[in-house]
Amino acid sequence: MNDQTEIPEELIQIIRKAEHVTVLTGAGISAESGVPTFREAQTGLWARYDPQELATPQAFQRNPKLVWEWYTWRRELIGKAEPNPGHHALAEMAQLVPKFTLITQNIDGLHQRAGSQDVVTLHGNLMETKCFANQHLVDNWPESDAVPPHCPICDSLLRPNVVWFGENLPADALQTAVQAAESCDLFLSIGTSALVHPAASLPLMAVENGATTVELNPQSTPLTRWMDFVLTGAAGELLPLLVTSLKEAFNNDA
Ligand code: OAD
Repeated sequence: MNDQTEIPEELIQIIRKAEHVTVLTGAGISAESGVPTFREAQTGLWARYDPQELATPQAFQRNPKLVWEWYTWRRELIGKAEPNPGHHALAEMAQLVPKFTLITQNIDGLHQRAGSQDVVTLHGNLMETKCFANQHLVDNWPESDAVPPHCPICDSLLRPNVVWFGENLPADALQTAVQAAESCDLFLSIGTSALVHPAASLPLMAVENGATTVELNPQSTPLTRWMDFVLTGAAGELLPLLVTSLKEAFNNDA
């Protein structure tokens, strides 16, 4: 597929008039920040690591040290990454439309670091830590050699505050996301393979609700055929282009 270099004028006019824009992002938006995606051949994390050994509660129970250390490695990687022009463009887009809901499957915090407010984090946040037994969210724990360290409240093992396979999504985040998908007039799905539910159902809820739907991805996905507009290319290139075109459209109004 050839990447596109322009945003259709019809789409810009639809966004200009939209009352509520909802955006769902996946690992692809952080790819240009150097954060690996999951399912891409060769480079995706799940091409190199087995999620069943690293990203399930059972894996943690079997080998908590391995799981803790793998997430520590990812936390360090993400700590060195910077938000890219795609993250910044979404933070800017939020200022241009009456209502904007940003939902992400990413646990890297890069949207928040780019200045996006009230990000709906469906899969948790890698920078946060909670305990395995009671979900106590903790910022500090006593210095010790234990790996993983123990919860200062209940002494159970600490783990990252992320959603693992087989676990429920945070109920409040999911409810906010579903409401936004069902009530928006424009829905953008950006940089997600749309294979992991319930996140992958959100764009389809928007389709059912009659919203205009847009996918931005260098590859096609199971969503592609349902979308009104398909933007083929990298988020870090196409989103700044989209925001620039949108600002021009608003300036022409003035
Ligand atoms: P995937 O790795 O499944 O998909 C990443 C998508 O990003 C692919 O469709 C790529 O084509 C696309 N992509 C790559 N580079 C891009 C770029 N520069 N701009 C735009 N798109 C690009 O990642 P997710 O869909 O986020 O869950 O995966 C969903 C969930 O599966 C993750 O949240 C994680 C994983 O297991 C949990 O950890 C619970």
